[in-house]
Amino acid sequence: METVGIIGVNGTVGQKLLSQFKKIKTPFTLKTFGRNDEIPALDIAVLCTDNPVSERLVPQLKNRVGFLVDMSSQFRMTQGVPLVIPEINPHTITKTTRLIASPNCTTTGLVMSLAPLKPFYHFKEVFFCSYQAISGGGKPLLDDFHTPGSLYANNCVPQIGSIQANGHTSEELKGLYETRKILEIPDIKVYCHTVRVSVENAHSLGVTLRADKPFDLEQVKKQWNNFPNLIYSEKVITPKEVSGKEETFICRLRLDVEDPCVIHYFVTFDNLLKGAAMNGRQIVELLLEKF
Ligand SMILES: NC(=O)c1ccc[n+]([C@@H]2O[C@H](COP(=O)([O-])OP(=O)(O)OC[C@H]3O[C@@H](n4cnc5c(N)ncnc54)[C@H](OP(=O)(O)O)[C@@H]3O)[C@@H](O)[C@H]2O)c1
Repeated sequence: METVGIIGVNGTVGQKLLSQFKKIKTPFTLKTFGRNDEIPALDIAVLCTDNPVSERLVPQLKNRVGFLVDMSSQFRMTQGVPLVIPEINPHTITKTTRLIASPNCTTTGLVMSLAPLKPFYHFKEVFFCSYQAISGGGKPLLDDFHTPGSLYANNCVPQIGSIQANGHTSEELKGLYETRKILEIPDIKVYCHTVRVSVENAHSLGVTLRADKPFDLEQVKKQWNNFPNLIYSEKVITPKEVSGKEETFICRLRLDVEDPCVIHYFVTFDNLLKGAAMNGRQIVELLLEKF
């Protein structure tokens, strides 16, 4: 029986992954590791750790672990490392793959909405503004949020990650580059603002998408509803309702007032589930079943 380890099990994503693993049907032996634990040989390990820890552990573990699945952004853009959402690009995992990256949570919500439309429309450009939950910043940000006087209480903060030399935040650059890699559209233009809002869990995005031809709204809705783990709703859906749910929800679809080649819509999903732990569980399921 395969041995699967969770590294960083005491963190926000690690704890969610632990409960997600109960859904895996293929039998396996589970091992969990915290900060100071020795990690033995494993068939699969999921690193639920921050970038510096993943950067240090991945090279150390490569010879001892069959497949490494990393939740951090450390290796997402490294050539040869597949950046995987099982509903979208499972084909990027091959027999020679040893390290798999799980994408940024906000990017995941965006590409879940774009992937079902890709066979029908050539995307010219996409813009989004994110409304990102506190839990996306892990335990340290949740602790800050629950401390009286937190900047994040009753507020929105237009900085997630560090501000880079070009003025964009690291989170905004993930939205651009990870979208291109996952969708395998190297020239798609992605414009974004990423904003932390006073919502404990579940991220949202307001999206504007331009294609090369007019959108057929009924076809768009049908494509979304036929895609696994994606639901289009005619009702207004809010992050409060989707926290704890596995599906990515889309609502408020409308054509642009002046340009039929442009649509606007709202996406909301649990960043700890589809944005992290559920995606990690789905990757492990794929590995257990196919490799
Ligand atoms: N939160 C999200 O929505 C989300 C979404 C997608 C991706 N991610 C990524 O997932 C990773 C984990 O995020 P998180 O939100 O769960 O962060 P977190 O709540 O801060 O948890 C990180 C965990 O890593 C543990 N850790 C630190 N050094 C370790 C080591 N050497 N060995 C084993 N464990 C160690 C910490 O241990 P202690 O408990 O002892 O401090 C902590 O439990 C990050 O890279 C993050 O960017 C997060």
